[in-house]
Parts: sequence; structure tokens; C-alpha cells
Amino acid sequence: MRADDRISPLPAVTPAPAPPQAMVVVDQVSKSFWRRGTAALQTCSLQVPSNEIVCVIGPSGCGKTTLLRIVDGLIPVDSGRVLINGIEVAAPRPDVAMVFQHVGLLPWKTASDNVAYGLRLQGRSEREVSDTIARYIDLVGLRGFESAYPYQLSGGMQQRVGLARALAVNPTVLLMDEPFGSLDAQTRELMQEELLRVWRSQPKTMIFVTHSIDEAIILGGRVALMTRRPGRIKEVIDVNLPRPRDPEAVRRSPRYLEMREHIWHELKVEVGGRALS
Ligand SMILES: Nc1ncnc2c1ncn2[C@@H]1O[C@H](COP(=O)(O)OP(=O)(O)OP(=O)(O)O)[C@@H](O)[C@H]1O
Ligand SMILES: [Mg+2]
Repeated sequence: MRADDRISPLPAVTPAPAPPQAMVVVDQVSKSFWRRGTAALQTCSLQVPSNEIVCVIGPSGCGKTTLLRIVDGLIPVDSGRVLINGIEVAAPRPDVAMVFQHVGLLPWKTASDNVAYGLRLQGRSEREVSDTIARYIDLVGLRGFESAYPYQLSGGMQQRVGLARALAVNPTVLLMDEPFGSLDAQTRELMQEELLRVWRSQPKTMIFVTHSIDEAIILGGRVALMTRRPGRIKEVIDVNLPRPRDPEAVRRSPRYLEMREHIWHELKVEVGGRALS
């Protein structure tokens, strides 16, 4: 008997049922980057229900960013398709916003002008633009830094500008690629709470990529686990914890501990390590 075989299944961590009407449907998507001969995704399928947060977690290099870029219409698929609100994605859409893993701010624009970028593209009035900038700069805790250029901001502050820029256009679908990855632990928890607060007041459909199991469970309605590269979704877990969530209480709950252990075990299997015993 192998070590893995001795691990009893965790009955409460059940696969989530297929959502009745999904806002985002990733249907059997495959993608290779031929120049480097890399198959990034292989028959990857995921459904994201309207106004739900699905957290995606998987080994480094398994294709999470590639998946988000495909959903955002930035790169084409080799096969399969992506539907948003029933329409096949062929190019970027104005109602979909992305927070990039490596920030992606415009270096020649101030924090304010970076936040304003999408709003101006949408043709909003200058009054509306300045009100919205003030609101989101405040929300992400950057008041006083409106005129700073990205090179004058720390990595964490740049990430907050990226988050404010994405939220400011009030997208229907928000794609987030490890948005809090470079924040310190305290700021990260505050940003998670802020994100949930914004989400409660302005619900949107989110795909949130993270390397943190804790973050995935605290934020997610579902947690989608990916295999190693070429990535596909191997399991979707229904988090099934009531909202609004008190993170501290969640972390003490048996369900949290059980899900954390299950996800950790599955990730270890994917990266080729030994399963938890
Ligand atoms: N533009 C590209 N050209 C060639 N190969 C690419 C390109 N983008 C991604 N890849 C390759 O595709 C695979 C998946 O990359 P991707 O960035 O999607 O992984 P990831 O899951 O987001 O990783 P991480 O957790 O480290 O951010 C990797 O092997 C990467 O080298
Ligand atoms: Mg990535």
C-alpha cells in the first residue's frame, strides 16, 4: 500500500454541483505556446455562477494566468471556448476587468490617472471620473498618493492602484491574478475584507487566482483546484460557509481545517510531493 492510499477520503469536502446559470463558462479549453513548445492548458473547464467568487489555486506554472488571459480575451484558445453571459469571448470586453499579477500600471501616469484610465475610455464625464477616483483611492488606502507615479510607490501600493483601477469601472466580471500576493500579511487581510465589502455592496462575478489556501477559503464561494501543467480543473469545492464571514471564526471552524487539509493534500500530490499523513 502506498502512503497516499492510507488517507481516508474527507466526506464533507464534496465536489460542487454544476451551477444552474453560469456567468463565465470555460469549456474544454486547451492552449499551447508553440514557440517554447509548452502546453499550458489542456481541456480545462470551469463554470463561474453569476455574482460568485471562484478562487483558483494550483501549482506554479500550471496555467492560471493563461486561463485568466484567455477569459479576458487577451489571448486566443487553440481549442474549446469561453462564454461570458452566453457570448463567446473573442476579444477584450468593457464589462470585464483584470487585476494583473505583475500590476501592469502605466508608468507615465499618476496613481489617479491610472485609476481613471478605464473610466475615460468609457467616456465618463470628468466630474464622474474625479468622484470615482477619490472613492476608490480612498477604498484602497492610498489617499495622499494620488499624484505619485508608479515608480514612487511600493510594490504593494502599486497593486492597490491596480485593484482600484479594476474596481472603478464597476465590471460585471472581475479577474484577479494574485492581487494581494506582494502585500504584507496584515494589509492582505484588510484588503480581503475590503474586497468582500465591495463585493457585497456591488456584487460581481469573480475569478480570483491565489497561492494561499487560507485566502481561497476566506474569499471563495467555490475553490477550483488545478492540476500541474498542462493545467485543467481537477476539482471544484463548494466552500459552503455562510456570509458575511468573520475570518477569525472561519479559521477556527472544523470545516475550514478540513478543507485546508484536503486542498493542501491535493496540491502536494500535484507538485509531486508526499501527501500529508
Ligand atoms: N506568452 C508565453 N509564451 C510562452 N510560454 C508561456 C507564455 N505565457 C505562459 N507561458 C508558459 O505557460 C505555462 C503556464 O504559465 P502561467 O503564467 O499561466 O502559469 P501560472 O499558473 O500563472 O504560474 P504562477 O503561479 O507562477 O503565476 C508556463 O510554463 C509558462 O512558461
Ligand atoms: Mg500566474
